[in-house]
Formats: sequence, C-alpha cells, structure tokens
Amino acid sequence: MLARKTLHLIMACTASVSVGLASLSIASAQATQYAEKPPLLLGAAWYPEQWPESRWEADLELMEAAHLHLVRVGEFAWSVMEPAEDKYDFAWLDRAIELAAKHHICVVLGTPTAAPPAWLTTKYPDTLRMDEKGVRDEHGNRQQFSFASERYRKFAHEITEKMAERYGHNPNVVGWQLDNEYAAPSFDPEAKAQFHAWLKAKYGTIDNLNNRWTTSYWSQTYDNFDEIPVREKGENPGLLLDWKHFVSDTWKSYSANQISAIRPHADKRQFITTNTMGWFDGFDEYVVHSNLDIAAWDDYIGDEHYDWLDNGARHDMTRGFKDKNFWVMETQPAFVNWHAVNSTLARGQVRDMAWQAIGHGADAVAYWQWRSALNGQEQYHGVLVGADGTPVPVYDEVKQVGEEFDKTGKALEGTTPQSSVALINDYDSRWAINFQRHNRNFDPVAEMVNFYGPLYKQAQSVDVISVHDSLDKYKLVVAAGLNVLSKETADHLLAYMKQGGNLVLGPRSGMKDEYDALNVERQPGPLVDALGGRVEQFYALEDKVPVSGDTGSGSASLWAEQLSAKAVDTQVLLRYGASNGWLDNQPAAITRKVGKGTITYVGAWIDDDLLAKLTSSLLQQHGVKPILPDAPDGVEVCQRKGNGHSVLILINHNTAKAHVKLPHEMRDLLGDGSRTSVDLPAYGVDVLSEK
Ligand code: GLA
Repeated sequence: MLARKTLHLIMACTASVSVGLASLSIASAQATQYAEKPPLLLGAAWYPEQWPESRWEADLELMEAAHLHLVRVGEFAWSVMEPAEDKYDFAWLDRAIELAAKHHICVVLGTPTAAPPAWLTTKYPDTLRMDEKGVRDEHGNRQQFSFASERYRKFAHEITEKMAERYGHNPNVVGWQLDNEYAAPSFDPEAKAQFHAWLKAKYGTIDNLNNRWTTSYWSQTYDNFDEIPVREKGENPGLLLDWKHFVSDTWKSYSANQISAIRPHADKRQFITTNTMGWFDGFDEYVVHSNLDIAAWDDYIGDEHYDWLDNGARHDMTRGFKDKNFWVMETQPAFVNWHAVNSTLARGQVRDMAWQAIGHGADAVAYWQWRSALNGQEQYHGVLVGADGTPVPVYDEVKQVGEEFDKTGKALEGTTPQSSVALINDYDSRWAINFQRHNRNFDPVAEMVNFYGPLYKQAQSVDVISVHDSLDKYKLVVAAGLNVLSKETADHLLAYMKQGGNLVLGPRSGMKDEYDALNVERQPGPLVDALGGRVEQFYALEDKVPVSGDTGSGSASLWAEQLSAKAVDTQVLLRYGASNGWLDNQPAAITRKVGKGTITYVGAWIDDDLLAKLTSSLLQQHGVKPILPDAPDGVEVCQRKGNGHSVLILINHNTAKAHVKLPHEMRDLLGDGSRTSVDLPAYGVDVLSEK
C-alpha cells in the first residue's frame, strides 16, 4: 500500500514537472482515482472554508500520515459557494479537492442545504421553517429551512446542480451526501397545504378519511381536507400516523429534488446518500432510503457511555436500510459537546468502536471532526487536531486504526455480515406506541434492544430489517412490538411461516391496523387465527409480576398481557404467577405450528435473564448456531464473508483482558503468522482470516 501510494505521488510530481503547470490539476486529481481508493476508508469531516488556504496542506499531510483516505467537505459551506444570489465561487473547492487528491484522500461532497446563507433567508423569509405554534425560525444556527418550501427547493436544486456540473466527473469525488441529518419538519402554510393534498391523494374522499380515523369521536368529523389540523401530538392517532408518513414522503421528495440535480451530471460510481441518526424516528428511514444509493449514519453513543449492544443494533439497522454495507459518515473522536456531561471514551474505545462498525458491515468510518473552527457552536467537541493545528492525544489511536484498515482492506473487500436471524424495526409501530405509551417507561426502542441483546450474543449476527422486506433467508424473525399490523403485512408473515419460517411477536403486537385504528380481532389482530390464541387484556405494570415456564423463571415489568390459548395445539410457554388477580396463572407466552413454521407470542416485557433463556431455546430449536460458541462474555464476534473471503473480527469490550479460542488455526491480519487462540487486552481487537 505504502509503495503504491509513493508511486502515485512520484507520478503526480513527475507529470507536473515534465508537462507544466496546466496539467498539475489533472495529474494530481488522478492520484486517488475511485478505482484506486482503498476498500476500507478512514476519514474525517474537514472544513477548508474555515481556514486560510496556506494551512490546508499541513492538515492533509497530517491526515495522510494517519492513513486517513477520506474527507467529507462542503456540507455547511453555502455562503462560501454562493456568497450572493447567483454569484458562485467554487475555485477554493476545486483546489481543496485537488490538494486532497495529492495526499491520496478522496472526497465526499456534502450539499450545503442544511445551512442556508443569510442573503437567502433574509430576502425569502418564506423559506424558513415554522413551528407548530406558527412561529417562523429566524436566520441563525442551522437547519432553519422548511423542508416543504418550493422556493427553498429551487435554491437547493440550483446550488446542487452547480456542484454536480463541476464535480460529477471528478475522479477524486466518490460520492454525495445530501444536506445533513434531516430532522425537523415545518408547519408553515405551504407544508400544511401539502399535507392536505397528500391526505386527499391517499383517501380520495373525506368520508373515507372520516371512517378510517373514526372522526365521529369528539366531533372530529371533517367536511373537507383543508379543515384538518396539523400537529405532532395530542391528536387523533390516525392523523398523527399520517403526519409521520407525510413527513417521510416529504423528506424523500426533498432528496429527490437534489438527486435530480446530481444524477444527470455525475458518474454512476458516485453514490448519493444522506447521513442519518440511529434510533431517530422523525420519519421512516426505509421510505427515505428508497431513492438513495447507500446508507450512512452518524454514530454517536446515545448516552454518555458506550453500550456496544445498542450501538451494534444501530449499525445493523443502518445496514438494513439498503440491505448492504454502509458508511459511518460521522463518529466521535472520543467525546462530543452536546451531552449534559461530555465524558470521553476510554483509551482504546475509539479503536474498539471503529472496528465494531466494520464488523457490522461499514466500509468507511469518518470522524467528526478534523479540527474545531476557532469560533462557532462546537468549540468543545472532540477533534483529531487541536486549535494549534497539532495532533491531540486520540490522533495516535486513530492512526493505528488507519494502519489497520490499510492492512486488512483487501481481505475485507466485498465481504458483509450474514445472518439467519432478523429483528424487525417498524416505524409505524414505534410511532403508534410512542403516541400512547400507556406506561410512560414503555420505550419501543428499548424493548427492541432487549430482544436484540440476547439474540446477538447468542447468534453473533442479527439483521435489523423492515417487516416488508423479504424474510425467506431467516430461520427466526423477531418483532419486539409490532403494534401496527395490517392484513397485508400479516399475509406476508403468514407466507413466511407456512414456508418454514419462525416468527416471534413481542408485547403490544397486532393491536392496530395501518390507519392506527384498533384491530377488531384483539391482538395480534389478523394473526389471531394462526396463533390459536389472543390477548384478552393488557395491563401497565407498576410492580413486577412473576413469570415462569419450561425455559425458566423470572419476572415481567412495565407491561403484561393476559393471553388465552384457544386452539388445542397452541402451547403455553410461560405463565404469570400471583399478581393482580387478572393475570394470576394466565398464559404470558404461547406458541403454535403454522404450516412448516411456527408463531410465538410473548405478551410481557420480561427480564433480561428470562428473555435470554427464551431466545436461546428458540435459536436452538430453529437451528441457529453461533459463529464462535465459547466466546467470553463481552467479547464481540463479527464475521464478514464474500468474495471468497471469510474474516473474523474479535472485539473485547471488557475492561479486563480476555482469551479467545479459535475454531481452528487462522491467519492473524493485524499481527503476523497464524494462531489458534487470541489474547485480547481491554478494548483489544483482532482481525483474522481463514488460512
Ligand atoms: C452532528 C452533525 C455534525 C456535528 C456533530 C457533533 O452529527 O451532523 O455537523 O454537529 O453532530 O456531534
């Protein structure tokens, strides 16, 4: 790798000397052509517009020395690219990209639409977003635009097209990030009118909407679509769910606007993505990803501590958005600036997190950010280079990761995790539960992660997917809380089970139809017949309730459903112990054969130990085997396969060292030679391949 890089550099230099200055840009821009880019990319968000040009080379040299081969550039630089309406300046960006190429660093270009310039919002205040109370944002901060504004979209299209015309064939630009972290919707009159039109297109007649939303309740009956209020809370659940669908479609069309500016001018090899935010549920990611090429997310640890299982679940979910490898477009170089206490990752954990990303199918990891702007809202955020322009302590750890990515890239190229277990991530259900939690602590994501934890530890690979995806390749599909279950989705699940698939439904499943109305069969709605049983009543719990069965004993908290097993062949797996009288001795989990497969319904939020016993018995029953059966607790085992390669990534998330026995002799890709076991220090990583 080093030799090849040096050769490129020599070639670039020779070309410039021998054929003169005019060819310099071509020669150096070819230094990291797409075809030459390393298979695994480590990088950083870089903001050349915030620094004097005389500083750029020093930054890029430091990046190159740390084996960083990627910068994301431009996503907040609109006022520099278009300093006044229709006056463009891209010369600085041309030079920044060219200089990056010289240092073997490829570029993802961010469209700058998350930060409109002051001239735009001042002259056209109708482009600013409005909150639910009708208050317009003012210029300042960022993301102050209305996602539905036609005028804003026109400006966004123009600046994006100008960029695409200029860089769509640039050999050093590998892809595009649209905007930055889509988030807040707008409630301005234009957005409202679009929502009303959207509802009209969906329902056809107002009577149909009135019927689906049961608007005779509280005299909500509407005479026409324009009367419908637009709110995110405290409204009819049917309205709330449709608003989320509208928001999802609107972000999708927001992307489509920019995609239509890029695609006609860009090489096919340049991907188009946007950067998403893990569990964020402002819109349906599957809808928003339907017109993107790859998924990319910003991996910041959710609270102040790194919960590797939760983080792994978010990687797997992101991989599921496009059912292929993804990018980590941003991650923290040790700490952020937006928590109550911005504690740091321990020494070693930045590397641990980078390898976890790769283990779950990332092909790139980029730090946010390279260096803090001297002023601006994020002066305290973690960086790789300090205010003086020299490395901060974490730089060396990142450099180690960079060396390791270079070393292992070839073996990992074209490989991806492979799972026979899937966990369902369903936005409709998450929203519907959050609209009416009934127990304030019933967090649908926490319940998903409760199931993910033991499944992942026991199977060592889990796909997190949409319920609408093809399920055929999975031995086990688990939906932790499939609250919204339409007849169509139920048919999809039934077809899977009849062919031999095994479905597990968690508490609150099947309560609602696709309009967020109650299913008349009770839970699990259209699957009651297949289950041969149903939910007789649900209870929000203040106190724990004992639960036991053949798999073991434990307790339920937060939520318990009193089940009935009506069909003779429906078996009871778990029963409640003495509780409120209603639940005493009643079924808590039931199961039944369906065609060649099975359906299992777990009606309670059960404790971690009992849930682990239940998932272990289900995995065994349905023939799911771990990759490395005896891995110590807290040592994550990831495997990527493909392209004739099989690579094992071991990560010790513990604060103590761990010894891992390998199934047979394997080649150590980080060290030398081969081995049959590995000793990992705290936060240690090893990468091994079949010999
Ligand atoms: C987000 C944004 C970045 C930056 C980081 C800080 O992910 O996309 O611009 O603000 O947060 O953690």
